[in-house]
Amino acid sequence: MHQSEKKRQAALAALEYIEDNTQLGVGTGSTVNYFIDALPDYRSKICSVASSSEASTKRLQKLGFEVSSLGDTGELDLYVDGADEANKHFHLIKGGGGALTREKVVAAYSRKFICIIDDTKLVGTLGAFPLPVEVIPMARAYIAKKFIKLRGQPIYREGFKTDNGNHILDIYNLNIINPVEMEDRINRIPGVVTVGIFAHRGADIILMADNKQVHTLRK
Ligand code: 5RP
Repeated sequence: MHQSEKKRQAALAALEYIEDNTQLGVGTGSTVNYFIDALPDYRSKICSVASSSEASTKRLQKLGFEVSSLGDTGELDLYVDGADEANKHFHLIKGGGGALTREKVVAAYSRKFICIIDDTKLVGTLGAFPLPVEVIPMARAYIAKKFIKLRGQPIYREGFKTDNGNHILDIYNLNIINPVEMEDRINRIPGVVTVGIFAHRGADIILMADNKQVHTLRK
């Protein structure tokens, strides 16, 4: 099965978790786009939708959804989002699409986080996927040097600006043995806005599609 079809299957499986009166959070990326596109059939069950990016907001609005701000909704019942990598502890790398900061906020504000992936993204150790880090522009060179000391190879995502007006460094060659500790360590570097390790607040459920079916992984 093609990877895009696996993404679609994982996304469709997440629709089952929408209950009556759900305050829904929607993530960003090609997997979530399949979820968004199927949402109109569930409209009557959704009482509000918040989004983690301008791109997802636009897609939702095109389908006639009014997108709420987190200040208006309060805590969300359910957050559905993809990931770039996941491990068996439900720690994630996110931010391949550059929306990591808002994704982390929406995940933190949600009672349940369902992560939708295809099976190529389940890994033993996080870090083969370059780790996205959102940084304020004036701190970029300083932070890049810090990552070189950590034996990572930081690459500036040229021509890309986040929804918050910041830059992204993609850090290659990190072997993230202890994601919780690494998340803390990177968060302490001045000028870092968000690191794409979601370990403190990882997923609650992973829906992972392979060639045959969608597997529900629970903690
Ligand atoms: C965006 C993300 C995405 O969830 C992640 O990059 C996965 O994307 P895709 O579903 O396109 O493979 O974190 O910032």
